[in-house]
Amino acid sequence: MKEKEYSLKGKVALITGGAKRVGKETALTLAAKGCHIALHYNSSRAEALKTARQIEKLGVEVTLFKADVRSSAQVKKGVQTVLKKMKQINILVNNAAVFKRTPFPKVSEKDWDLHLDTNLKGPFLFANEIAPHMLKRKSGKIVNITDWAGARPFKNYLPYTVSKAGLIGMTEALAKTLAPNIQVNAVAPGPVLPPTGMSQKEKNTIIKNTPLKKMGTPQDVAQAILFLIEHSSFITGHTLMVEGGRLIG
Ligand SMILES: NC(=O)c1ccc[n+]([C@@H]2O[C@H](COP(=O)([O-])OP(=O)(O)OC[C@H]3O[C@@H](n4cnc5c(N)ncnc54)[C@H](OP(=O)(O)O)[C@@H]3O)[C@@H](O)[C@H]2O)c1
Repeated sequence: MKEKEYSLKGKVALITGGAKRVGKETALTLAAKGCHIALHYNSSRAEALKTARQIEKLGVEVTLFKADVRSSAQVKKGVQTVLKKMKQINILVNNAAVFKRTPFPKVSEKDWDLHLDTNLKGPFLFANEIAPHMLKRKSGKIVNITDWAGARPFKNYLPYTVSKAGLIGMTEALAKTLAPNIQVNAVAPGPVLPPTGMSQKEKNTIIKNTPLKKMGTPQDVAQAILFLIEHSSFITGHTLMVEGGRLIG
Protein backbone atom coordinates (compact mmCIF):
# COMPACT_ATOMS: atom_id res chain seq x y z
CA MET A 1 0.00 0.00 0.00
CA LYS A 2 1.36 3.44 -0.91
CA GLU A 3 2.11 5.80 1.99
CA LYS A 4 0.11 9.04 1.97
CA GLU A 5 2.69 11.66 0.98
CA TYR A 6 2.39 15.28 2.19
CA SER A 7 2.19 17.36 -0.97
CA LEU A 8 4.26 20.53 -1.09
CA LYS A 9 2.44 21.90 -4.11
CA GLY A 10 0.87 25.27 -3.27
CA LYS A 11 2.11 25.22 0.33
CA VAL A 12 4.21 28.04 1.84
CA ALA A 13 7.55 27.33 3.53
CA LEU A 14 9.37 29.97 5.57
CA ILE A 15 13.12 29.33 5.57
CA THR A 16 15.40 31.33 7.84
CA GLY A 17 18.90 32.19 6.62
CA GLY A 18 17.90 31.19 3.11
CA ALA A 19 20.07 33.52 1.02
CA LYS A 20 22.99 31.15 0.57
CA ARG A 21 24.65 27.83 1.43
CA VAL A 22 22.39 25.18 3.08
CA GLY A 23 19.37 27.48 3.42
CA LYS A 24 19.48 28.35 -0.28
CA GLU A 25 19.71 24.67 -1.27
CA THR A 26 16.72 23.92 0.98
CA ALA A 27 14.68 26.75 -0.54
CA LEU A 28 15.40 25.57 -4.09
CA THR A 29 14.66 21.94 -3.19
CA LEU A 30 11.24 22.79 -1.69
CA ALA A 31 10.46 25.24 -4.52
CA ALA A 32 11.20 22.51 -7.08
CA LYS A 33 8.33 20.57 -5.45
CA GLY A 34 5.92 23.46 -6.13
CA CYS A 35 6.18 25.08 -2.69
CA HIS A 36 6.01 28.89 -2.39
CA ILE A 37 8.92 30.30 -0.40
CA ALA A 38 9.15 32.99 2.28
CA LEU A 39 12.88 33.65 2.18
CA HIS A 40 14.43 35.20 5.24
CA TYR A 41 17.84 36.86 5.30
CA ASN A 42 19.67 39.25 7.59
CA SER A 43 22.83 40.76 6.05
CA SER A 44 23.01 38.91 2.70
CA ARG A 45 20.58 41.05 0.71
CA ALA A 46 22.33 40.68 -2.67
CA GLU A 47 22.52 36.86 -2.35
CA ALA A 48 18.90 36.75 -1.15
CA LEU A 49 17.73 38.68 -4.23
CA LYS A 50 19.70 36.30 -6.47
CA THR A 51 18.25 33.24 -4.73
CA ALA A 52 14.74 34.73 -4.96
CA ARG A 53 15.13 35.09 -8.74
CA GLN A 54 16.26 31.44 -8.99
CA ILE A 55 13.22 30.37 -6.94
CA GLU A 56 10.83 32.36 -9.16
CA LYS A 57 12.24 30.60 -12.21
CA LEU A 58 10.85 27.36 -10.71
CA GLY A 59 7.35 28.81 -11.11
CA VAL A 60 6.50 29.52 -7.47
CA GLU A 61 6.00 32.72 -5.50
CA VAL A 62 8.67 34.14 -3.24
CA THR A 63 8.50 36.75 -0.49
CA LEU A 64 11.77 38.13 0.77
CA PHE A 65 12.13 39.58 4.23
CA LYS A 66 14.92 40.78 6.49
CA ALA A 67 15.12 40.18 10.22
CA ASP A 68 17.66 39.71 12.96
CA VAL A 69 16.45 36.40 14.44
CA ARG A 70 17.52 37.59 17.91
CA SER A 71 14.88 40.32 17.88
CA SER A 72 11.29 39.37 18.73
CA ALA A 73 10.03 42.62 17.17
CA GLN A 74 11.80 41.93 13.85
CA VAL A 75 10.68 38.28 13.77
CA LYS A 76 7.08 39.31 14.49
CA LYS A 77 7.13 41.96 11.76
CA GLY A 78 8.67 39.49 9.27
CA VAL A 79 6.09 36.78 9.97
CA GLN A 80 3.25 39.33 9.70
CA THR A 81 4.58 40.53 6.34
CA VAL A 82 4.70 36.94 5.05
CA LEU A 83 1.20 36.12 6.31
CA LYS A 84 -0.18 39.30 4.75
CA LYS A 85 1.37 38.53 1.36
CA MET A 86 1.15 34.73 1.25
CA LYS A 87 -1.91 34.17 3.52
CA GLN A 88 -0.47 31.04 5.15
CA ILE A 89 2.71 29.44 6.48
CA ASN A 90 2.55 25.65 6.33
CA ILE A 91 6.21 24.85 6.92
CA LEU A 92 8.90 26.50 9.02
CA VAL A 93 12.57 25.61 8.54
CA ASN A 94 14.73 27.15 11.29
CA ASN A 95 18.10 27.19 9.52
CA ALA A 96 19.81 30.51 10.42
CA ALA A 97 22.71 30.14 12.82
CA VAL A 98 26.19 31.28 13.80
CA PHE A 99 29.25 29.07 14.36
CA LYS A 100 32.36 30.50 16.02
CA ARG A 101 35.36 28.89 17.67
CA THR A 102 35.22 29.97 21.34
CA PRO A 103 37.72 28.04 23.51
CA PHE A 104 36.65 27.64 27.14
CA PRO A 105 37.25 29.15 29.75
CA LYS A 106 37.92 32.37 27.87
CA VAL A 107 34.50 32.50 26.24
CA SER A 108 33.03 35.98 26.48
CA GLU A 109 29.49 36.62 27.63
CA LYS A 110 29.01 38.28 24.24
CA ASP A 111 29.88 35.05 22.41
CA TRP A 112 27.64 33.01 24.71
CA ASP A 113 24.73 35.37 24.03
CA LEU A 114 25.44 35.48 20.28
CA HIS A 115 25.17 31.68 19.94
CA LEU A 116 22.28 31.11 22.33
CA ASP A 117 20.28 34.07 21.01
CA THR A 118 20.81 33.27 17.32
CA ASN A 119 20.75 29.46 17.34
CA LEU A 120 18.20 28.77 20.08
CA LYS A 121 16.17 31.90 20.83
CA GLY A 122 15.81 32.62 17.09
CA PRO A 123 14.09 29.27 16.32
CA PHE A 124 11.96 29.73 19.47
CA LEU A 125 10.83 33.20 18.33
CA PHE A 126 9.85 31.97 14.86
CA ALA A 127 8.03 28.92 16.24
CA ASN A 128 6.30 31.06 18.86
CA GLU A 129 5.08 33.49 16.20
CA ILE A 130 3.99 30.87 13.65
CA ALA A 131 2.58 28.10 15.90
CA PRO A 132 -0.69 29.96 16.70
CA HIS A 133 -1.34 30.26 12.96
CA MET A 134 -0.57 26.53 12.44
CA LEU A 135 -2.70 25.54 15.46
CA LYS A 136 -5.62 27.49 14.03
CA ARG A 137 -5.24 25.65 10.72
CA LYS A 138 -4.74 22.32 12.58
CA SER A 139 -1.74 21.60 10.39
CA GLY A 140 1.94 22.45 10.11
CA LYS A 141 5.49 21.15 9.92
CA ILE A 142 8.49 22.60 11.70
CA VAL A 143 12.04 21.43 10.94
CA ASN A 144 14.88 22.76 13.09
CA ILE A 145 18.43 22.54 11.76
CA THR A 146 20.68 21.55 14.60
CA ASP A 147 24.10 19.80 14.43
CA TRP A 148 25.44 16.37 15.31
CA ALA A 149 27.54 18.35 17.83
CA GLY A 150 24.31 18.76 19.78
CA ALA A 151 24.54 15.01 20.51
CA ARG A 152 28.37 14.70 20.71
CA PRO A 153 29.92 18.00 21.83
CA PHE A 154 32.75 19.71 19.97
CA LYS A 155 35.72 20.87 22.03
CA ASN A 156 36.37 24.64 21.72
CA TYR A 157 32.80 25.41 20.61
CA LEU A 158 30.95 25.41 23.94
CA PRO A 159 28.21 28.01 23.27
CA TYR A 160 27.59 26.62 19.76
CA THR A 161 27.36 23.05 21.03
CA VAL A 162 25.04 24.01 23.89
CA SER A 163 22.79 26.01 21.53
CA LYS A 164 22.43 23.03 19.19
CA ALA A 165 21.83 20.56 22.06
CA GLY A 166 19.19 23.00 23.30
CA LEU A 167 17.60 23.00 19.87
CA ILE A 168 17.30 19.19 19.98
CA GLY A 169 15.60 19.57 23.38
CA MET A 170 13.30 22.28 22.04
CA THR A 171 12.38 20.08 19.07
CA GLU A 172 11.19 17.36 21.46
CA ALA A 173 9.39 19.78 23.79
CA LEU A 174 7.63 21.57 20.92
CA ALA A 175 6.69 18.28 19.26
CA LYS A 176 4.97 17.18 22.47
CA THR A 177 3.30 20.55 22.95
CA LEU A 178 2.04 20.97 19.40
CA ALA A 179 0.90 17.37 18.73
CA PRO A 180 -1.24 15.94 17.24
CA ASN A 181 -1.68 18.28 14.28
CA ILE A 182 1.73 19.93 14.05
CA GLN A 183 4.90 17.90 13.63
CA VAL A 184 8.25 19.16 14.85
CA ASN A 185 11.45 17.42 13.82
CA ALA A 186 15.12 18.29 13.39
CA VAL A 187 17.97 17.56 11.02
CA ALA A 188 21.47 17.34 12.52
CA PRO A 189 24.08 17.74 9.80
CA GLY A 190 27.69 16.74 10.10
CA PRO A 191 30.21 18.67 8.01
CA VAL A 192 28.54 19.59 4.71
CA LEU A 193 29.98 23.04 3.96
CA PRO A 194 33.08 23.89 5.97
CA PRO A 195 33.30 27.44 7.27
CA THR A 196 35.52 29.69 5.15
CA GLY A 197 39.09 29.44 6.34
CA MET A 198 39.12 25.72 7.23
CA SER A 199 42.41 24.21 6.01
CA GLN A 200 42.67 21.13 3.77
CA LYS A 201 44.46 19.37 6.66
CA GLU A 202 41.44 19.96 8.93
CA LYS A 203 39.10 18.74 6.19
CA ASN A 204 41.18 15.57 5.73
CA THR A 205 40.99 14.85 9.48
CA ILE A 206 37.20 15.18 9.37
CA ILE A 207 36.98 12.81 6.39
CA LYS A 208 39.30 10.31 8.12
CA ASN A 209 37.02 10.33 11.21
CA THR A 210 33.81 9.89 9.19
CA PRO A 211 32.79 6.26 8.54
CA LEU A 212 31.44 7.16 5.07
CA LYS A 213 34.86 8.77 4.29
CA LYS A 214 33.56 11.97 2.75
CA MET A 215 32.06 15.35 3.53
CA GLY A 216 28.33 15.69 3.07
CA THR A 217 26.70 18.24 0.80
CA PRO A 218 23.96 20.87 1.23
CA GLN A 219 21.81 18.57 -0.93
CA ASP A 220 22.17 15.80 1.68
CA VAL A 221 20.68 18.18 4.27
CA ALA A 222 17.97 19.50 1.94
CA GLN A 223 16.90 15.95 1.05
CA ALA A 224 16.64 15.04 4.76
CA ILE A 225 14.49 18.13 5.36
CA LEU A 226 12.34 17.18 2.39
CA PHE A 227 11.94 13.66 3.77
CA LEU A 228 10.82 15.03 7.16
CA ILE A 229 8.21 17.15 5.40
CA GLU A 230 6.98 14.75 2.72
CA HIS A 231 7.23 11.34 4.35
CA SER A 232 6.82 11.93 8.06
CA SER A 233 3.19 11.04 8.76
CA PHE A 234 4.21 9.06 11.91
CA ILE A 235 7.35 10.98 12.96
CA THR A 236 7.58 13.82 15.48
CA GLY A 237 10.16 14.98 18.02
CA HIS A 238 12.87 13.19 16.05
CA THR A 239 16.37 14.40 15.18
CA LEU A 240 17.65 12.91 11.94
CA MET A 241 21.45 12.68 11.86
CA VAL A 242 22.97 13.47 8.46
CA GLU A 243 26.60 13.07 9.45
CA GLY A 244 28.12 10.20 7.49
CA GLY A 245 28.09 8.02 10.61
CA ARG A 246 30.33 10.30 12.71
CA LEU A 247 28.32 9.48 15.84
CA ILE A 248 29.36 5.84 15.57
CA GLY A 249 32.81 6.64 14.17
N1 LIG B 1 27.70 24.00 7.11
C1 LIG B 1 27.84 22.86 7.77
O1 LIG B 1 28.69 22.02 7.44
C2 LIG B 1 26.93 22.57 8.94
C3 LIG B 1 27.23 21.50 9.78
C4 LIG B 1 26.39 21.25 10.86
C5 LIG B 1 25.27 22.02 11.07
N2 LIG B 1 24.99 23.04 10.24
C6 LIG B 1 23.79 23.85 10.48
O2 LIG B 1 23.05 23.93 9.27
C7 LIG B 1 22.48 25.25 9.12
C8 LIG B 1 22.96 25.90 7.83
O3 LIG B 1 24.36 25.88 7.79
P1 LIG B 1 25.20 26.95 6.93
O4 LIG B 1 26.62 26.61 7.08
O5 LIG B 1 24.58 27.09 5.59
O6 LIG B 1 24.86 28.25 7.80
P2 LIG B 1 25.61 29.68 7.75
O7 LIG B 1 26.01 29.97 6.34
O8 LIG B 1 26.67 29.72 8.78
O9 LIG B 1 24.44 30.65 8.25
C9 LIG B 1 23.17 30.66 7.63
C10 LIG B 1 22.57 32.02 7.73
O10 LIG B 1 22.25 32.35 9.07
C11 LIG B 1 21.93 33.72 9.05
N3 LIG B 1 22.13 34.39 10.34
C12 LIG B 1 23.19 34.38 11.16
N4 LIG B 1 22.96 35.21 12.21
C13 LIG B 1 21.73 35.74 12.03
C14 LIG B 1 20.92 36.67 12.76
N5 LIG B 1 21.33 37.22 13.91
N6 LIG B 1 19.71 36.97 12.26
C15 LIG B 1 19.27 36.44 11.12
N7 LIG B 1 19.97 35.57 10.38
C16 LIG B 1 21.19 35.22 10.84
C17 LIG B 1 22.86 34.38 8.00
O11 LIG B 1 22.04 35.20 7.17
P3 LIG B 1 22.66 36.46 6.40
O12 LIG B 1 23.82 35.90 5.61
O13 LIG B 1 21.54 36.95 5.56
O14 LIG B 1 23.09 37.44 7.45
C18 LIG B 1 23.45 33.16 7.28
O15 LIG B 1 23.46 33.30 5.88
C19 LIG B 1 22.88 26.01 10.38
O16 LIG B 1 21.87 25.90 11.35
C20 LIG B 1 24.13 25.28 10.85
O17 LIG B 1 24.37 25.41 12.24
C21 LIG B 1 25.81 23.34 9.17
